[in-house]
Amino acid sequence: MTTINIIGTGNVAWHLAMALQNEDEYAIQAVAGRSPEALSQFTKLATSCVSVDKLQLCDLTIIAVADDAIKKVLKTIPYTEGLFVHTSGSVSMEVLSMYKNHGVLYPLQSFSKGIPLDFTHIPICIEASHKSNIKVLEKVAFALSEKVQEISSPQRKKLHIAAVFVNNFTNHCYTIAQDICTSNELSFDLLRPLLQHTAQKAVQNSPSKMQTGPAKRNDQETIATHLGHLSDRQQQKVYDILSQAITAYYGKKL
Ligand SMILES: NC(=O)c1ccc[n+]([C@@H]2O[C@H](COP(=O)([O-])OP(=O)(O)OC[C@H]3O[C@@H](n4cnc5c(N)ncnc54)[C@H](OP(=O)(O)O)[C@@H]3O)[C@@H](O)[C@H]2O)c1
Repeated sequence: MTTINIIGTGNVAWHLAMALQNEDEYAIQAVAGRSPEALSQFTKLATSCVSVDKLQLCDLTIIAVADDAIKKVLKTIPYTEGLFVHTSGSVSMEVLSMYKNHGVLYPLQSFSKGIPLDFTHIPICIEASHKSNIKVLEKVAFALSEKVQEISSPQRKKLHIAAVFVNNFTNHCYTIAQDICTSNELSFDLLRPLLQHTAQKAVQNSPSKMQTGPAKRNDQETIATHLGHLSDRQQQKVYDILSQAITAYYGKKL
């Protein structure tokens, strides 16, 4: 039985705890955090819920706190033995180099606490200080998912940037679209089939081959009309910069 401490009580900590609690080979010894209210959501998932300084030695410590809190949290962990990993897409593995055994377990998905996810299809990117630690992480990752890949810190940072485009930026575009609908008494439901089909096409094909619309056609008249109808300065800027990027991309390819 491998004992695990999870540090952090946010989205990733919750999803990891939910997935790991079903695995017989792993025991969540403790979940640690600074907010009693957040910790109370983990009482059924871990043997104990404590503050970080009260943690006891375990085999694997998973640090799932905000990127800029990782270094600070390390100072309060009361042991140095075992394997330490963080779950960040953009923080280098070296941040954990004070521990002999360290690595990264980066699940590539957008996690929101309370919204169920099937971990089986979530890619888990791993990296570790020694081959033996890779073996340990591979075992944990394969217990959770069928998609496990070893990647380096520089590759993970690039992957994280790509993920920001795929998830954060597209989602903000959905938000802009929803705001435009709301301010014109239109239901966003009208756009949901388009949203679904666009994502489905990009999943099944090369996204660069699926692009359509005025910017791809370099239809400057329509672009100017659309810009004129947008009263919100931020929306205008986003429309303009994305149109320019699309036109330049396909202009170059033609
Ligand atoms: N969310 C995702 O989709 C996703 C996907 C892959 C990887 N990741 C990575 O996973 C890690 C956790 O992300 P998350 O989405 O779970 O974050 P989150 O939901 O915002 O939770 C952050 C956690 O960090 C704790 N924290 C923040 N500042 C702290 C500090 N100064 N000292 C101690 N604890 C502190 C928070 O505690 P309080 O509640 O007390 O503030 C909370 O438990 C990050 O490295 C992130 O990059 C996230």
